[in-house]
Amino acid sequence: MKVLIGCSEMQPFSKTGGLADVTAALGKYLGASGIRVGVVTPLYRGLLEARKGIRQTERVVTVRLGSQRESGRIYECEPSKNLTIYFVDHQRFFQRGGIYGEHNADYSDNAERFLFFNKVLLELSCQIPWRPDIVHVHDWPAAMLPALLRNEAQKKGNYPAPPKTLFTIHNLAYQGLFPSHWMPLTNLPSEYFTPAGMEFYGQLSFLKAGIVYADHLSTVSPSYAEEILSEDFGCGLQGVLGERRNRLTGILNGVDYAEWNTANNPHLEHSYSPENIRGKAAEKKRLQRDLGLAVDDQVPLFGIISRLVEQKGIALLAEALRQSLQRPMQFVLLGSGELALERMMQELSRQFSTQVRIKIGYDPVWAHRIEAACDFYLMPSRFEPCGLNQLYSQRYGTIPIVHAVGGLRDSVQDESEGKNQATGVKFAAFTIGALLEAICRAMKIFQQTELFRAYQRRAMSRDFSWKRATKAYLDLYQQILRSDASPSL
Ligand code: ADP
Ligand code: GLC
Repeated sequence: MKVLIGCSEMQPFSKTGGLADVTAALGKYLGASGIRVGVVTPLYRGLLEARKGIRQTERVVTVRLGSQRESGRIYECEPSKNLTIYFVDHQRFFQRGGIYGEHNADYSDNAERFLFFNKVLLELSCQIPWRPDIVHVHDWPAAMLPALLRNEAQKKGNYPAPPKTLFTIHNLAYQGLFPSHWMPLTNLPSEYFTPAGMEFYGQLSFLKAGIVYADHLSTVSPSYAEEILSEDFGCGLQGVLGERRNRLTGILNGVDYAEWNTANNPHLEHSYSPENIRGKAAEKKRLQRDLGLAVDDQVPLFGIISRLVEQKGIALLAEALRQSLQRPMQFVLLGSGELALERMMQELSRQFSTQVRIKIGYDPVWAHRIEAACDFYLMPSRFEPCGLNQLYSQRYGTIPIVHAVGGLRDSVQDESEGKNQATGVKFAAFTIGALLEAICRAMKIFQQTELFRAYQRRAMSRDFSWKRATKAYLDLYQQILRSDASPSL
């Protein structure tokens, strides 16, 4: 089996969110399982300087974008067994300060940039000597590939034995929706731009193109795979998704424990394990000291590391904290995003200046430190396709408090689901009251040291390794290769 992955983000080369963690781990662990894997991703600014091992190749891919022609040089590296990463270089499209935009605004030519990327991906899927059986694309920036591939395959003789396609939706809320005047750059026949195809109420939708034309669809948790069929979570695409529901699979993301671990972690000064958790207390002390909080192991420390966007329930959290911070507790946030939410959190830290620390920015080292130091991790997302930090938290013995949706629902066990299995605290309604109640419950657990330790031991022992997720993807690839039915046009 040979698989080519197409994605706009991949750790450690580029990242705005969990997508990057997942594409990196998927490539690495599929390769380790013995299959041939390639990843195609843009060569963003600064990569060549920052990352050794990326080399220029002779391969230059030229594609048509409407009446223009654009070329990209391919760079390569082989970071692990059976894995080759193909970086697509294009000065005008990718040598910029951001991936999708800057200063909280998307680039105005994202349709053109990512159409170019999809077309190069299409070329590579037939040019690379080891001919992939499956092309596995992720999120809207790579979602045009299935349609482009189908169109090529239908031109007789152009593409004998085309690979099958799998489209993974990491977040339905990001749709790659553009004015229809970009459509000619696809060079696709007009029948693709209809309500049965990639048109979404008069606009060009990359995401819808992926949903309609891929051989198979997946999302990053079983619960989210069901939720997106409903009006509440479907972002207007529930109908189209419903038509393809028998080709939709939910696979919970894994954790790369080689990176997210509590023993010999370069970002931590103290190692710890479920059997000996003393190092965690030392990390809490270190964080409290370094952030100028009262150094006190009796005060519960709550944390969150997040993009500050509506999805993550940040406004709900700010209000619930305003009420719960009347009690002895500390709170630390690392994140960046929407200005209004950044301000809301900074206001909270002014109001509770001895208990709250807000770090605006993006910082992987602090992400590990906060995960290790906190007693509780807050994740009150309104919706969450999978979520990674509740998985990392459990490994770090940091008890997650989560809204029971999507991957949060699938990966955290509440006391109500079995007394001796609980690894976290879940709340069902997306309301301040329900979140407050969950925080109170967490504080009660914290006060009972033995009970709290039991939660920590169980959470740390849960296995969210990529072994399970890799096997699930391998099984799915097999299933897709066996099924010969094509999606309806
Ligand atoms: P999403 O992809 O929706 O942002 P996930 O929970 O899947 O949510 O993944 C978020 C990832 O981004 C995690 O690895 C998290 O640690 C990381 N992250 C988010 N914000 C920051 C930040 N400010 N600094 C460092 N890492 C961050
Ligand atoms: C998206 C989702 C998040 C998920 C991540 C990786 O960014 O918002 O829930 O964990 O993708 O799949």
